[in-house]
Amino acid sequence: MPKQIQAIKGTQDILPPYGDTLRTLENTLLAAAARYGYSEIRTPVFEPTELFSRGMGGSTDVVQKEMYTFEDKGGRSLTLRPEGTAGVVRALLEHGLFNEPMPQKLSYITSCYRYEKPQAGRYREFHQFGVECFGAAGPAVDAELIALAAGIFRTLGLDSLRLELNSIGCPLCRPAYHTALKDYFAARQDELCPTCLERLERNPLRILDCKSPVCSAIAKDAPIGLDYLCGECAEHLDGLKSTLDALELDYTLNPRIVRGLDYYTKTVFEFVTDTIGAQGTVCGGGRYDGLVTELGGNPLPALGFGLGLERLELVLQAGGKEPPLPPPCELYIVPIGDEATGRAAVLCEKLRSEGIHAQFDVVGRSVKAQMKYAGKIGAQYTTVLGADELEAGAVTLRRMADGQTRTVELLNFRL
Ligand code: HAM
Repeated sequence: MPKQIQAIKGTQDILPPYGDTLRTLENTLLAAAARYGYSEIRTPVFEPTELFSRGMGGSTDVVQKEMYTFEDKGGRSLTLRPEGTAGVVRALLEHGLFNEPMPQKLSYITSCYRYEKPQAGRYREFHQFGVECFGAAGPAVDAELIALAAGIFRTLGLDSLRLELNSIGCPLCRPAYHTALKDYFAARQDELCPTCLERLERNPLRILDCKSPVCSAIAKDAPIGLDYLCGECAEHLDGLKSTLDALELDYTLNPRIVRGLDYYTKTVFEFVTDTIGAQGTVCGGGRYDGLVTELGGNPLPALGFGLGLERLELVLQAGGKEPPLPPPCELYIVPIGDEATGRAAVLCEKLRSEGIHAQFDVVGRSVKAQMKYAGKIGAQYTTVLGADELEAGAVTLRRMADGQTRTVELLNFRL
C-alpha cells in the first residue's frame, strides 16, 4: 500500500462535530461585532511579502523568523498572512474605503501562518477573529473596542481572562523612551542574547519582549514607557481609563506589554489567562495610527484586535464551558424498503426547504440499526416509514426524549 500522507506539523484538522461547533462559535463572534457596527471583510491568504515586512516591522520576530515566504512561478515574493491587520489596511487603501463615512468598522475570521515552534496554544496555522476600526482618534473607541472583546468573553461565560493595558506612546514621545531604553540596555550589552544585541540598534523596545531568561531578567528594571508619554498620549490613556471605569471594565496597567508587532501607537492591550499554560494571551490589539501612512495612504487613525480561536477553545475547555452546540437533527425517518426510501427522500427535501433539519437512512441499515443511529446523532423525533404507513398515508412520530407519539398525515406533514 502507498505510504499515508500526514498533516504538516503545527497544523490541525478540524473534525466533526467540532467543525460545526466552531462555525457556531465564529458566528457568535461575528454577530457580537455586528452589534458594534462591524461588517465582515475577507482578504487573500497570500500577499506581497513587502506588505508584512513594511507593515509589521522588520525588527519583529514574526517578520525576521516566522513568515512563510516563497517565490511564485512569476518570480514574485509572496507571504502567507501571519496576521489579519496588514491585509485589511491594504484592502482599505486599494478600494478607497477611506472615502466612505467614518468610522469604517471591519471584522474577519481568518487563517494565519507563522513558523513558530508548535506547542499547546501555538500552531503554525491558526485562526483569528479580528476587528479593525478606521477613522476614530479619541479614546472612546478604544474603550468600545475593549468592551466588545470583554463582552464576548462574558457571553461565553469566561471569567478567567484579565485585561492588561498599556500605552506605548507615539512617534513624538517614543524617541526619548527609545534613547532611555538604549542607554539602559547598552550598559549591559555583554549579557544580552545575539538577537537582542541586534534589537538594541534597530528597536530596543523589542528587547522587552525577549523570552530568554537573561534578557527578560535584565528587562525587569528597564525604564517604563508610561514615564515618557507626551501630553497627548497621557491624555488619551486617561480618557480610556475613565471610560473603562464608567463601563465597569476591570483592567491592570501593565507597562511591560509592548506587543510583538511594530505598528502600534498609544493604546495596547491583551486579554490573558493562567488556565491554558504558557500561551496565555488569548486576545491582543491596540491602536495603530501610523500604519495606514506606512502603507501608502493619508493619515488615518486606526485600531483593532486579534483573538486566537484555538486559544479561545482551550480557555473554554479549561473553564468547562461547552462551546455553543450546532442544532441537532430534528427528524430522522426510518424507511423500510425501496419505495419508502424514495418517499423519505422527497419528504426530507420538503422539510429541509422549510428550514427543518431532516435525515433518512441512505446506507440500507436494518430498522434496529437505524434507530440506534438516530439516537447517536441526537435526533429529536423519529418516524418509521414502511408499507403500512404508505398505505395509510400517515406515520407515527416519536419524540425521542420521552417516547411520546402522535400520528401525522403524510400529505400534510408537520413536525
Ligand atoms: P497577535 O498578538 O500577534 O496580534 O495575535 C493575536 C492573537 O492571535 C494572539 O493573542 C493569539 O491568541 C493568537 N495567536 C498568535 N500567534 C499564534 C499561534 N502561533 N498559534 C495560535 N494562536 C496564535 C495580531 O496578530 C494583530 N494583528 C492583532 C491586531 C489587530 N492588532 C490590531 N488589530
